[in-house]
Amino acid sequence: MRTTEPHFSIPLNRRGFLRQSAVALAAAPLLARAAVTPSASRKIRVGVIGCGSVSRMYFPNLTACPFVELVAACDIRPERAKAAAEKFRIPNHYPGIERMLAGAPFDLLVNLTDMQEHEHLNRQAIEAGKHVWSEKPIANSHAAGQELLALSRTKGLRLWGAPTVVQSPQFAFMAKTLAAGTLGQVASAHASYGHLGPDWAAFFYTKGGGSLPDLGVYNLTFLTGLLGPARSVTAMTSIVTPKRSIQGKGEMTVTEEDNAMVLLDHGHGVLSHIECGFNYFNPNDHAYAGQDHHTLSVTGRQGLMKLAGYDWGPHAVDLSTAREPAFKRHADAKHDYVWENGASLCAECLATGKEPWFTPEHALHVVEIIVAARESQAAGKHVKLSSTFKWPVAI
Ligand SMILES: NC(=O)c1ccc[n+]([C@@H]2O[C@H](COP(=O)([O-])OP(=O)(O)OC[C@H]3O[C@@H](n4cnc5c(N)ncnc54)[C@H](O)[C@@H]3O)[C@@H](O)[C@H]2O)c1
Repeated sequence: MRTTEPHFSIPLNRRGFLRQSAVALAAAPLLARAAVTPSASRKIRVGVIGCGSVSRMYFPNLTACPFVELVAACDIRPERAKAAAEKFRIPNHYPGIERMLAGAPFDLLVNLTDMQEHEHLNRQAIEAGKHVWSEKPIANSHAAGQELLALSRTKGLRLWGAPTVVQSPQFAFMAKTLAAGTLGQVASAHASYGHLGPDWAAFFYTKGGGSLPDLGVYNLTFLTGLLGPARSVTAMTSIVTPKRSIQGKGEMTVTEEDNAMVLLDHGHGVLSHIECGFNYFNPNDHAYAGQDHHTLSVTGRQGLMKLAGYDWGPHAVDLSTAREPAFKRHADAKHDYVWENGASLCAECLATGKEPWFTPEHALHVVEIIVAARESQAAGKHVKLSSTFKWPVAI
């Protein structure tokens, strides 16, 4: 094991880091700074498919975005699309993707449907010439996701997928602290996220669903964003609650994991671990505004940092080092990062030429980890990964 070459002192040029950090940490921009001046003159026409629970967070965010013109709402439960269209003054609503693609023209599809529906809807939209922002996952396998990404590129389109956790100022602080070598040689990291599980839709618990793509995806994106692509995965998964009661549907049988522990090898001796599940009591349940306990930590030979709040709704980073052992709070200023901003950031990117810090390759690497975690559980072995993404994240 190498212990002398700090894996995390390399990525940023030190002078560049010091110059950037004073500005960036004071007010972390939501998109990478680029030569293009932001302009609200060009609006991106947006069609939203899936008008369920998460859309209630997305619609207000999209409505407030100066780069967005909401053109269409769509849902196979047409009353939901109609209600969203009325509430958010969207001129068109449709009962399915075919009618939507044949209807009023738009540029960016925002896919907020069931996890099992993403892959084929994303493909249909790309084939019809639309850019795509997809809730997680972009596709159900890494190969299918890569194929979608290749297809989008041949057509000159963009494809992105949730989550946006690398956009937060807390992620930026932690990445820059690692890049500066403040923790010394990093050894380990840990992250945890869970609640008692949704009761409004069955898809979370059936094939293509599960706690890994719904919840673990945040920790996996944040930790690979900090520590780099994983090389192999070892995991255990289980079903703790085999029967669930779903609103309007009654009792159902759970077939995908609702409890998961995943170990990642990032190379250079760095190991991390995430846990997620739909059986985690939490006094704040899904709410995060007042949730300040640590959910993620990174430990090195000369320092330790802990993230206060969830990685999708972080509040601050507490840092202790060999030079300053008393924990000191950082990155706790008021900021405008919110987890539901992905589609708005994509519209801003399309309108201005800026690039977000999240990439489709990173999202697909996480899809490969999730698939590998299940394979590891089934076969009782380490599973090697083949994908990677551009790292360090370009914050
Ligand atoms: N609910 C949350 O708090 C939350 C948070 C972050 C991310 N997400 C993600 O958002 C996605 C949606 O979750 P949700 O909780 O909103 O589920 P939901 O069941 O509340 O909403 C999904 C909607 O999609 C519609 N739909 C399904 N298939 C469709 C199709 N082929 N064409 C058109 N509409 C279709 C359904 O009728 C439903 O209205 C999932 O990927 C989930 O992981 C949810």
